[in-house]
Amino acid sequence: MALALLGILALVISIAASATWSAITRKSGIDPVASHWPPTPKMEGVFATNTLLQELDELGVGELPGPEDIAVDDNGVLYTGCADGWIKRIFPETGEVQNWVQVGGHPLGLAWGHHGNLLVCEPTRGLLNITADKALEVLSNEADGVKYKLTDGLDVAKDGSIYFTDATHEFGMNTSDFDILQGRPNGRLLKYDPSTRTTTVLRKNMYFANGVALSAKQDFLVVCETSMVRCMKYWLQGEKKGTMEVFIDNLPGHPDNIRHNGRDRFWIGLIAGRTRLTDTLMKIAPLKHILALPGVLQKISTSSKMAKVLAVGEDGVPLAFYEDPTGKSIALVTTALEVGDYLYLGNLARNYVGKLKLRQL
Ligand SMILES: *[C@@H]1O[C@H](CO)[C@@H](O)[C@H](O)[C@H]1NC(C)=O
Ligand SMILES: *[C@@H]1O[C@H](CO)[C@@H](O)[C@H](O)[C@H]1NC(C)=O
Repeated sequence: MALALLGILALVISIAASATWSAITRKSGIDPVASHWPPTPKMEGVFATNTLLQELDELGVGELPGPEDIAVDDNGVLYTGCADGWIKRIFPETGEVQNWVQVGGHPLGLAWGHHGNLLVCEPTRGLLNITADKALEVLSNEADGVKYKLTDGLDVAKDGSIYFTDATHEFGMNTSDFDILQGRPNGRLLKYDPSTRTTTVLRKNMYFANGVALSAKQDFLVVCETSMVRCMKYWLQGEKKGTMEVFIDNLPGHPDNIRHNGRDRFWIGLIAGRTRLTDTLMKIAPLKHILALPGVLQKISTSSKMAKVLAVGEDGVPLAFYEDPTGKSIALVTTALEVGDYLYLGNLARNYVGKLKLRQL
């Protein structure tokens, strides 16, 4: 940490010597605000430091670039969206990988519809339907006149409604770090109604609206706000219907996708960790201009050197925490899908899906 700080100081001085502040702010390309989170939670209790993720097996090595989200079909076959635009199928027993449907871009959130169809979030194309006979249709790519730039996470309700997010209307997939760094609420929680073929904005001004998952009873959903290190609860039924409250905040990292296990818990992939240094720097808006200069964020970010996933009960209480503090087994974990005795891990750092035998919880 001290070294990183020195590095930044040296950079600041060298930049100051060669350029004016206005040149820096112009070059950074962001319009930052201060981001305030409580101090990082103590790594004790459920959050006790461990190396459980180091036990994972690697599925489809070399064939799955940046497998971001994962869905499983009735036969136990896994589907994942890759950075080469393919949705690929993985046979978990043998590890065999097949190209399935070419979507283009980088397909992110995946969830099954009720007609053998797969619903897909692709950042710029929007919410897509891959029909049972593998035809591709765009269901929604804008709402209230604002186009999606980072269509990201989704879940499908029993009534067929599709709840999904646009993480930010300002930055794209390959510049999403800048949206998180900038700290402005550019995200939206959306609902697609298949009976009317219309999209409704449930909530705007969200802080990088990412993964979405419905509760077991479907009386609420949880939506993760990556740049606020928290997940929000949006009520779908009851007297609080249409209102939003904190589900879990002050996470030990930045949440990405969230998936319900069909019984009692949500799994959250934490794509980036937190350090005292980054927590402090994020509180100082002008410093963010410097962090946004080429190469600086990569220098201080420890995200590629750690991996964390968290299980949270329906009451928002953390239940289990699996991590690899070295990031050697996997990193930039985006999703954790529980299937039988295993957890399958999507990520943006590697070219494989992680398969981890779950321990008794
Ligand atoms: C998606 O495709 C299926 C056909 O496989 C169709 O029945 C369904 O109506 C389409 N749209 C939605 C929103 O599911
Ligand atoms: C980001 O991706 C878009 C296409 O989606 C491309 O046009 C652009 O050059 C990319 N930018 C960077 C910085 O890689």
